[in-house]
Amino acid sequence: MNKLVLGVMASGRGSNLQSILDAIEKGTVPARVSVVITDKPEAKALDRARAAGIPAVCVNRKEYDSRESFEHALIEVLRAHGVELVVLAGFMRILTSVFVQAFKHRILNIHPSILPSFTGADAHSLVLEYGAKVSGCTVHFVDEGMDTGPIILQATVPVMEDDDHDSLAARVLVEEHKIYPEAIRLYAEGRLTIEGRKVRIDRN
Ligand code: GAR
Repeated sequence: MNKLVLGVMASGRGSNLQSILDAIEKGTVPARVSVVITDKPEAKALDRARAAGIPAVCVNRKEYDSRESFEHALIEVLRAHGVELVVLAGFMRILTSVFVQAFKHRILNIHPSILPSFTGADAHSLVLEYGAKVSGCTVHFVDEGMDTGPIILQATVPVMEDDDHDSLAARVLVEEHKIYPEAIRLYAEGRLTIEGRKVRIDRN
């Protein structure tokens, strides 16, 4: 089977990137990462990419005067590396239709809550403030909204009485590292069909 070409975009530590690289290395995901892009020069994800021998590119948001010009630069790098599927792994920027249309139905994101609840940048704090008893994570296709695209996979974890942000985030992250590689595998094997808001998964 031909390997799907991934472009991973991250803003920080890159543990989801690492879980994807590890799954590829193990042979469970028929894909390869052709480029890792960050929007910040200090993002640890760049080091993880270099350690794996993958081109690591910073498209520094601060060097662009508009979201559109920034996104055109991202698109150029992704196209130059032959990217077929864009994987947002802790990429903390909302993408406009310029980017979303350039890779229509070919962008995945992971969000650390059970969508559609608790969208946005600090999901764990919102979950704790609200008093929810269950949280988790969601892998979804990206559309023009914030965390609104069709859902592929979700996993849940309990919220404990004594949880703080970091303890909840750590419990959710364990699940993120399972469902993101799994969702990419399903995509790479051609098992996902988008039907309106719903994603049909062919598990045969
Ligand atoms: C992950 O928990 C991811 O779900 C979250 O950022 C973290 C990145 O960690 N993404 C969002 O909150 C997107 N709204 P990582 O850099 O170690 O993968």
